[in-house]
Amino acid sequence: MTQSLENADLDFEPLGRTGIHTSELQFGTWRFGRTTEAGNLEITEERAHELLDAYADAGGRYIDTADVYGGGDSERWIGDWLDERERERYTIASKIYWRIRDGDPNSVGTNRKNLRHRLEALLERLDTDYVDVLYIHRWDDETPTRELLKTLNGFVESGMVHYLGASTMRPNAWKVAEANAIAEANGWEPFTVLQPRYNLVDREIEGDYLEFARERGLAICPWSPLGQGFLTGKYSREADLPTDSRVAESSRFRESYLTEENFDVHDELDAVAAEVDASPAQVALAWLLHRDGVSAPIIGARTVEQLEENLAAASIELSAEQVERLTAAKAGPYQGL
Ligand SMILES: NC(=O)c1ccc[n+]([C@@H]2O[C@H](COP(=O)([O-])OP(=O)(O)OC[C@H]3O[C@@H](n4cnc5c(N)ncnc54)[C@H](OP(=O)(O)O)[C@@H]3O)[C@@H](O)[C@H]2O)c1
Repeated sequence: MTQSLENADLDFEPLGRTGIHTSELQFGTWRFGRTTEAGNLEITEERAHELLDAYADAGGRYIDTADVYGGGDSERWIGDWLDERERERYTIASKIYWRIRDGDPNSVGTNRKNLRHRLEALLERLDTDYVDVLYIHRWDDETPTRELLKTLNGFVESGMVHYLGASTMRPNAWKVAEANAIAEANGWEPFTVLQPRYNLVDREIEGDYLEFARERGLAICPWSPLGQGFLTGKYSREADLPTDSRVAESSRFRESYLTEENFDVHDELDAVAAEVDASPAQVALAWLLHRDGVSAPIIGARTVEQLEENLAAASIELSAEQVERLTAAKAGPYQGL
């Protein structure tokens, strides 16, 4: 079941079984205030506000951030932008984990001291009394699961947080299952939203993680739905690296994405894009929107043009045969017996 805003392009979808709804495409703000390896600022405050305006104008109401994005600038700029808006209309998700002070072992992870202090700081930057979803950005093996859940439950009871999320491939499915069993046994709030990496070429979650989330009704909000730009048609086997990409300078990106296997997937993506008269980026996002169990991909765009192109993916229909061809272009980790 989908619901529409009047005169808007984006629909709402249930956010798992939380009871609230998410825009079918969430907007990610990782690159707000971020400096590239070469020292360039990826998205300025002015651009950030233009992007948020364009997203909101299309009916978008779900904004994803983290306390480390842009050293806090992402949350600060969202907070300033929200000052001119009706806070209640927007769903804001943020995350805590990564180290924020050199040499301070308590400024990383999900220990109670770090979580409490950082939640207060991020609410101040966002200039709000609560975040809708608070994610643990990564799993912390040093903090006992019981302590973590008790702390997080306290945040929900205090009203500072509405729902709890776990981001990325770690924790693995069994860790979320174990954590939620502990929460339920104690009458505490469980994790209800998951944020793994998932796109046509990064298919790790197609092991038990996706199935587990579907079975339990946990929301799946994929990050890097375009493989950090790989799935947009701007990279090719033969041509030089594009000059309009901020990640091309990263050796990690080049080694993990610019592979023969991934370019084969891109060939199938190009073929389907030609059939439906859409761009590769739009079809890559539409494929995710057609995946059972996916609540809403988190789109990241560096320009308003890119954002508008990506938002239009919400209206692209793929046939079952096209979805199957794209799915088969790269095998997930589970091959069956
Ligand atoms: N939980 C986590 O650990 C985690 C990790 C990563 C991201 N995230 C979240 O997920 C969000 C999205 O991640 P992501 O930025 O990696 O998403 P993505 O959609 O895979 O990549 C976005 C990048 O691709 C390029 N691009 C996007 N649309 C394009 C288009 N139409 N044409 C050409 N190039 C285009 C842009 O970079 P260039 O122009 O520079 O090529 C853009 O910055 C983040 O903002 C963040 O909120 C979470």
